[in-house]
Amino acid sequence: MIKIRAKDLTIEEKAKLLIGKDFWRIDTLGGKIPDFLMNDGPVGIRQPRLSTNGVETVQPSIAYPSIQVLSQTWNEDLVYEMAKAIANDAIELETDIILAPGVNIKRLPHNGRNFEYVSEDPFLAGVMAKKYIEGIQDQKVGACLKHYAANNSEVSRNYKSMEIDERTLREIYLLPHEIATKAKPWLVMTAYNLVNGVRMSAHDKLYRILRNEFKFDGLIISDWGAVMNRTKSLKASLDLEMPYDKLHLEQLLDDIKNEKVDMEIVDASVNRIIDTAYKCEEMRKIRQINLSVEERYNIAEKVAEEGIVLLKNEDGALPLKKNEKVLVTGTAVDSYVFGGGSSQVTPREPFVKLIDSLKGEGLNVSYFRTMQFTAGAFTSITDLKGALNKIFIDDIDATIVTISQDNHAHSEFYNRQNLLLSNEQIDLIKEITYVSPKTIVVIYSGAPIEMNEWIDDVDAVLYVGYVGEKGNKAVAKILSGSVNPSGKLTETFPMFLEDVQAYHAYEDARVALYEEQLSVGYRQFVSENTPVLFPFGFGLSYSTFVYDNLKITKSGKEVDITLTLTNTSKIDGHEVAQVYVRERLPDVYRPLYELKGWKKVFLKAGETKTVSITLDQRSFSYYSLAHDDWHINENGQFSIYVSSSSIDIELFTHIKY
Ligand code: BGC
Repeated sequence: MIKIRAKDLTIEEKAKLLIGKDFWRIDTLGGKIPDFLMNDGPVGIRQPRLSTNGVETVQPSIAYPSIQVLSQTWNEDLVYEMAKAIANDAIELETDIILAPGVNIKRLPHNGRNFEYVSEDPFLAGVMAKKYIEGIQDQKVGACLKHYAANNSEVSRNYKSMEIDERTLREIYLLPHEIATKAKPWLVMTAYNLVNGVRMSAHDKLYRILRNEFKFDGLIISDWGAVMNRTKSLKASLDLEMPYDKLHLEQLLDDIKNEKVDMEIVDASVNRIIDTAYKCEEMRKIRQINLSVEERYNIAEKVAEEGIVLLKNEDGALPLKKNEKVLVTGTAVDSYVFGGGSSQVTPREPFVKLIDSLKGEGLNVSYFRTMQFTAGAFTSITDLKGALNKIFIDDIDATIVTISQDNHAHSEFYNRQNLLLSNEQIDLIKEITYVSPKTIVVIYSGAPIEMNEWIDDVDAVLYVGYVGEKGNKAVAKILSGSVNPSGKLTETFPMFLEDVQAYHAYEDARVALYEEQLSVGYRQFVSENTPVLFPFGFGLSYSTFVYDNLKITKSGKEVDITLTLTNTSKIDGHEVAQVYVRERLPDVYRPLYELKGWKKVFLKAGETKTVSITLDQRSFSYYSLAHDDWHINENGQFSIYVSSSSIDIELFTHIKY
């Protein structure tokens, strides 16, 4: 079959191809070019369809754990597996390209979309996103890395210029894209915001970095409605504007006719769209479903099991014992809790209730309703007295208080006002702690919350996040002890939102000044030694681990680290060993230390394993404005920290790189 090229098309046809046909597809020029269908990601497929009477409904598809929970597994193989499972859903729904993953840095803990993003750490975000893309694309479905770059807040995202100095841009905000691009995503989606005064939908300079330095040779696509001037964006090399926009099409056609844009530029973008269309057509013929629905649900459950984080466990409050009488109450017992916006999936099967899952684990549980959910807020406590009486009368041993913040708080289009729970939820926790012999707080939320008012009074805290439609099975398994928790945070839980430097940076309706520079997430807290509620990289296990025998050898440009990890408990478990690198006497400012590697290891009770982690040249470099490149201090002396969290250093050594 002879393939169409840009040269075979009229000017009108080229213009049509450069702007979507509708919301999710390209214009096939009456069948001249193969069609392709894009749908959101990243936590399942969201495929809206118009019925014959014009009503839009979203096709049911598996609702997986959020990307936040996925990243908390620190398990790259699981990231790959979940992406593969989602690609299987895509094949089933005939979706060619999944609009995921998102790698924007969690600069602000109250940003509404954080649950969709990987981390506050750019290295972790990049590595996880790379795996995610490989998981999708190995199934012959396309991935779309988003949002390039610096969409770190949902407030006025279409108008705000993110003012970022070049070093910070390179080290924090571009790095995840740089790493993830190595997986060769078919598409990259630009961000809504401006960076240093230029719209990301037409950012010549940053597109050149993407194409020439990061070697991205796929399609650059706009975020939905992000283009203001189609000709300008085309000149910058934005290939496809989404969705359809009549005025933009007319203007573009005029501009092409009047030679306001070179035909070479037009043709380059047109050809990239055509290439993507042919690629989709080819892949469609050979892609196959290779995971059953049940297998996909099992993967989702495994992600939840490894991604949920045990934050507090005083005196072995958890796991619950079979002979304990347990009461379940709070806000997350009756309905599925999830984040909102374009990643919102319509679950495929009925929601699995926590109480049923706990019963399935053989626990002696009962339920008492204490909260009334009204119009997006948990506004009233319905029967607190009744619950407290029940705890007395039934001689309850432990109360599980479920706490939630759902899509009304965590969503695209807005940020949270603060990190606080509602007063009603706080009151509920506190009242229960007065009477219940043991209080276990289980949190369903898309991002950190403040816990200062009650954390000291409760016995255990489990951070569940958004675990998907069947995630409560995993919650119950962790509470009952049939699964040993192994998730660790991939973002800092600050004590107070006000402790976050970026929160105080200058911001008005048009500008957000990234004054904190590299002091994002744990980089800020460890450098300043500011206490946090729970540090980046932290998570408890029912096992205990001992780190020992750190050895380090330099071979060429790589540094090989080995250590031994021993599970000193009687329970099998996973541990995540993290490696942070610190330059001891840097010539320029550097954060105190930064994550450069990790390994998640499974250890049977009593078992010892040798763990190896390799660091490369980049692990020691910073982006030098004097050299316009990544650079290592010639006489650089470095400390290597092996840690169980960003503040719990277990072993350390030094090296001259
Ligand atoms: C979001 C993108 C999403 C697109 C299509 C936009 O509002 O920012 O992440 O892929 O909509 O739904």
